[in-house]
Amino acid sequence: MDEKSVREMAQTLKDAPFVVVFTGAGASAESGVPTFRDALTGLWAKYDAQELATPQAFRANPKLVWDWYQFRRGLVNNARPNAGHIAIAQLQRLHPRVLLVTQNVDDLHEQAGSPRVLHLHGNIAETKCFYDCQGEPTLVDLTELTFDPEDTPPPCPHCGRWLRPNVVWFNERLSYDILEEAFNASDRCNAMLMVGTSGVVHPAARIPMIGLARGIPVFDVNPHGSTLSEQATWLPYPAGEILPRVMEAYAQL
Ligand code: OAD
Repeated sequence: MDEKSVREMAQTLKDAPFVVVFTGAGASAESGVPTFRDALTGLWAKYDAQELATPQAFRANPKLVWDWYQFRRGLVNNARPNAGHIAIAQLQRLHPRVLLVTQNVDDLHEQAGSPRVLHLHGNIAETKCFYDCQGEPTLVDLTELTFDPEDTPPPCPHCGRWLRPNVVWFNERLSYDILEEAFNASDRCNAMLMVGTSGVVHPAARIPMIGLARGIPVFDVNPHGSTLSEQATWLPYPAGEILPRVMEAYAQL
């Protein structure tokens, strides 16, 4: 992308009184966290989502699902924020009003210094009772439990039944409050920045669709393109390459 286009994009973001940033797995790809739908490296190319990421799958094979999430927790634990996460955090610091909404279950935005992140799909580091036995998700600190790693999932300290990761699985509802805040922001913002999402998973994908339907500038940072790239302003580059350039230009405006 030439310098003039980078500057124009930075100017559009700066001129917008309210910006929504919407991120997906591609935002963490350069940190070494695999995406879901990239043809060769995506998790859903190797694993079957229906066998691993639904409440039905967990009931049918709790150990398989728990252990798979432990494997993914390991990947996330070893990951560090990349230049794209850092640039988004910088936008949040320099711009008066940005809402960051992510589909990601890692905490790399927070590690990069993002002051506030709406997590639509939960947080993989957290654990809760599969039955929500204490009411709305009561988180359990795994480090305080002693359990046999071969005998998983570990039992809930309150009811003795299964623990599970605090993520949203297919066929489950997203938090109403989080979704409402994200949709309201999409209805009101003046520009949107999509980063690293295929834009196919609903209801999350409605966020950029609302922006497009309203005719506001929507930038789509994605080296391979998303389902919405044609309607948006597509930036066919990795987030960690292009976003620092945009923020460098932004800081000079
Ligand atoms: P996907 O795996 O569907 O899409 C990731 C996108 O990131 C792809 O379009 C890639 O082209 C793009 N990408 C890859 N590397 C990139 C980079 N360096 N910079 C920018 N973009 C890059 O992931 P999501 O759209 O996040 O749901 O998937 C949405 C949901 O589907 C996830 O939250 C998860 C999954 O099943 C749940 O767990 C409920």
